[in-house]
Amino acid sequence: MSKEIVLSGIRSTGNLHLGNYYGALSKFVKLQDDYDCRFFIADLHSLTTNPDPQQLHASVKTILAEYLASGIDPEKATIFIQSDVPEVAEMYLLLNMHVGIGELMRTTAFKDKARKALGITAPAEDDDDEAFERQIIGASTNKRVNAGLLTYPTLMAVDILIQKATKVPVGKDQLQHLELTRRFARRFNSFYGVEYFSEPYDFDFGGEPIKVPGLDGSGKMGKSEGNCIYLIDDPKVLRKKVMRAVTDEGPQGPDSPMSEPVANLFTLLELTSTPEVVKHFRDAYANCSIRYGDLKKQLAEDIIAVTTPIRERINDILADDEYMRRVIRQGAEKARESAAKTLADVREIMGIRKF
Ligand code: TRP
Repeated sequence: MSKEIVLSGIRSTGNLHLGNYYGALSKFVKLQDDYDCRFFIADLHSLTTNPDPQQLHASVKTILAEYLASGIDPEKATIFIQSDVPEVAEMYLLLNMHVGIGELMRTTAFKDKARKALGITAPAEDDDDEAFERQIIGASTNKRVNAGLLTYPTLMAVDILIQKATKVPVGKDQLQHLELTRRFARRFNSFYGVEYFSEPYDFDFGGEPIKVPGLDGSGKMGKSEGNCIYLIDDPKVLRKKVMRAVTDEGPQGPDSPMSEPVANLFTLLELTSTPEVVKHFRDAYANCSIRYGDLKKQLAEDIIAVTTPIRERINDILADDEYMRRVIRQGAEKARESAAKTLADVREIMGIRKF
């Protein structure tokens, strides 16, 4: 029996942080033996924000090194760069013929990004689709919402369908895109009267999903939040960031409930430290003897212990162009092989046939 295909991608913007590590990478590593895993760097997706070309290239390179340094093994999983598989671009064109602009415009991620591109804030109450459409259509040409942003879900669906992936581990914010992928797959099958695509689902890891909080007191760690601990942060930077993390005035009495900023520090400690250390600080919080400075010092050292070996590997890998090139060539070859098969079938099904 061939193994089930797992696929996931990370957009190449900036560096990977602890949230990516615990939320995605460390889980991917565990899947490598049991599934046919394909992990890729979604550089075409990151073009939707028109990045600086130099920066885009540098980001693809570092993210590749970060994938590898986190334990993704090119001998077990297929690691590739999206743009190395031109079949994706062709199938994106073909699939777009079955995708409605209305359904694309209604996706949450599109609305958020489009508003950001136009510099408008969402209405406080329920959002008014008509007003939103008018704003997009009426936008001046120098402040535009590019068509690539609109068709982002088509491209993501193609990433998944072209590799025939059925398990797609993604964050909560991507579930809507996955739902659209299923819809597009069903639509394609029913339009052409074929049972060609299987519907992909999120990977169920069981239990609660890991939420990695940021250092700013509220919410999860995110690139755009400026609250990140990056895998490449050196110990000095890391200590500074952790010591500056938001806390509160201290426990308000024995066994008092924890404020979000302090609970977040405990969540980070739980991820990076030993149960004994966590218990020590939990007890100290409960009996009001806790000193947040001590908690932060401990947390910083525990994070450093986790990230140091990864950071060292990232730097070693980045210094070895030859190795990176080899990994990428091998990954592209494998990814293209499956993609070419799917694309040939899709062309045939759609009536683009050779004479
Ligand atoms: N859109 C995803 C994100 O922003 C990245 C992505 C692109 C992806 N293509 C994919 C994830 C295919 C899973 C499968 O996180």
